[in-house]
Amino acid sequence: MAASNEIKMYCVEDSTFCYPSENFQKNALINNNELYNMAKTDGIDFWEKMAEGLKWFRKWETVFDESNPPYYQWFTEGKLNVSYNCLDRHIDEGRGNKRAIVFEGEKGDVVSLTYKELLLEVCKAANVLKQMGIGKGDTVTIWMPMLPETVITMLACTRIGAVHSVVFGGYSPEALRDRIDASGSKLLVTANGSNRKGKEFPMITNAGTIIDECPSLEKVIVLKRTDIPFDLKPGRDHLWDELMNNTEESCSPEEMDAEDPLFILYSSGTTGKPKGILHTTGGYLVGVNTTFRYVFDYKDDDIYWCTADIGWITGHSYVVYGPLSCGATVFIYEGTPDYPARDRFWELIEKYKITILYTAPTAIRTFMRWGEDLPAARDLSSLRLLGSVGEPINPEAWLWFYKHIGNERCPIVDTWWQTETGMIIISPLPGVTPMKPGSATFPFPGVEVDVVDDDGNSAPPEQRGYLVIKTPWPSMLRTLYNDNERYEQTYWSQFPGLYFTGDGAMKDSDDYIWIMGRVDDILNISGHRIGTMEVESALVDHPAVAESAVIGKEDPVKGQSISAFVTLKEKYEGSNDLVDQLKQHVVKKIGPIARPGEIFFTVELPKTRSGKIMRRLLRDIAEGRRLGDVTTLMDPNVIEEIKNKYSS
Ligand code: WTA
Repeated sequence: MAASNEIKMYCVEDSTFCYPSENFQKNALINNNELYNMAKTDGIDFWEKMAEGLKWFRKWETVFDESNPPYYQWFTEGKLNVSYNCLDRHIDEGRGNKRAIVFEGEKGDVVSLTYKELLLEVCKAANVLKQMGIGKGDTVTIWMPMLPETVITMLACTRIGAVHSVVFGGYSPEALRDRIDASGSKLLVTANGSNRKGKEFPMITNAGTIIDECPSLEKVIVLKRTDIPFDLKPGRDHLWDELMNNTEESCSPEEMDAEDPLFILYSSGTTGKPKGILHTTGGYLVGVNTTFRYVFDYKDDDIYWCTADIGWITGHSYVVYGPLSCGATVFIYEGTPDYPARDRFWELIEKYKITILYTAPTAIRTFMRWGEDLPAARDLSSLRLLGSVGEPINPEAWLWFYKHIGNERCPIVDTWWQTETGMIIISPLPGVTPMKPGSATFPFPGVEVDVVDDDGNSAPPEQRGYLVIKTPWPSMLRTLYNDNERYEQTYWSQFPGLYFTGDGAMKDSDDYIWIMGRVDDILNISGHRIGTMEVESALVDHPAVAESAVIGKEDPVKGQSISAFVTLKEKYEGSNDLVDQLKQHVVKKIGPIARPGEIFFTVELPKTRSGKIMRRLLRDIAEGRRLGDVTTLMDPNVIEEIKNKYSS
């Protein structure tokens, strides 16, 4: 494989390929095709070898059980504990004094926990969970800011075999209620508030009203993170600090079956109802452990920072379980990149000497807009590898990231995956794969993907099609919680025998994979999935709204922004005030991430003769394109009218 002799990567703006520098290749964990070859010979055997890197209390009988598709199982009869693999194992191997978590709060408060210290906190929290009546198989909802306690609670659940359901801290109390209800959680762990851009936002004080509406919920634990006053309901609510200060310090890990549930994570689907994506214990851990190690070329002295919130799958797999199961030092930051100033991230990289930075294209495009002077004023020379996830990264953003953050030294791993896949599925191996800016490159060893046409046949090179995964992988979702039918329908009914990702893609003539975004009604706003239906249901919930259609409009920074077309009930009239009210209503129902960028009132929505809303035409209008095929429209006047009004 060709490579430049300099320290820098070989990558010029008009070239297609970018090669890792010889130096990077030389020191990389993997710098030849051995992993690919190993996996190609026998994929199952490959995953079995990877599983051997973890500590099992009892070895599996069967690596892969495909007797009941699409309910695949991995490492059956094997027994292990996730917290044991993330903590005790490293301590046993002499790394107890290594830093596991380094946390900085928005106000500059710092917490550093070694593996030994983290284990102690996790054991205490596990005992607290037990005191709250939580045992193996019970579900715990975690609605917290980005804090060490969030990680501690997750690991404490895994220690005793409880199933966690983390709900993104930015979701509204109503969205939280739906998720508590759907998961049947007995316990909620939350905070009195969160810090954001110098202000304090209430959490439990806001959620008070909805807690009474959750019949399954028995107890609430509240962490005091802000000065916001709050009341505790006697018998039900407890203070985190009090519980943690008065409990036992050791807790032996529960021996879990490989296929016992580990967590549920709610994600948007094409209907208004969120999908409870269920991951199990053994396969998930093998998947995230292996991919973390090889995709991020993990070394013992790395200081790794993934900027994703723990409320999303990226936080689960690559803030918590992947890195900690490898014994890494994980940096966690509570705040946003623009507070107190727009160079906050670069300041932190300089201060903590971060070596690996994993972030999202939205953030990169925002940094581009703020200009290269900000990162240039800081010492970013500790960085050696960069990563991107969540949405397609356009080549301009890729090259900017490469030049201005990586100083032309750091390979970029553009990683494609989903909540459902649990682990990275498509990505370069940084010491091996020549990169092409904008392409996620090739499937990870042991995973087979393809781009297929409408009939499920492999699409020829350069032809757009659907991205599918051809063979099961260890960290795949096992089902949708309490909804097997929807699981089969969503992922396995499109192309028999193939897992359907919902993404459009293309392979180029070098076999590189290019992701084209979603093909269904899921929006990707700043790398977060939101169903059009979720926003539509929130709008229709407002008394003034008769009907609505929501689309994603191309947005230079966020990838997509939300445009809502709304028809009002008879006695209501559109006004700026109502626009504000409706935006607020969506924020209340779902959270600030779903706030529509624009709301447009219209007398009618464009529909097919069978009554389906034609969102595609609304997208054409919003993005200023010529209208696509209008032959199935019930009333062509409707769309003409919207078009004229919208552009005026
Ligand atoms: C999109 C996030 C292009 C894709 C880990 C996928 C990407 C959805 C990439 C999953 C990437 C994620 N390039 N698109 N590198 N990574 N996506 O479940 O549409 O929040 O289906 O998981 O994000 O989003 P989710």
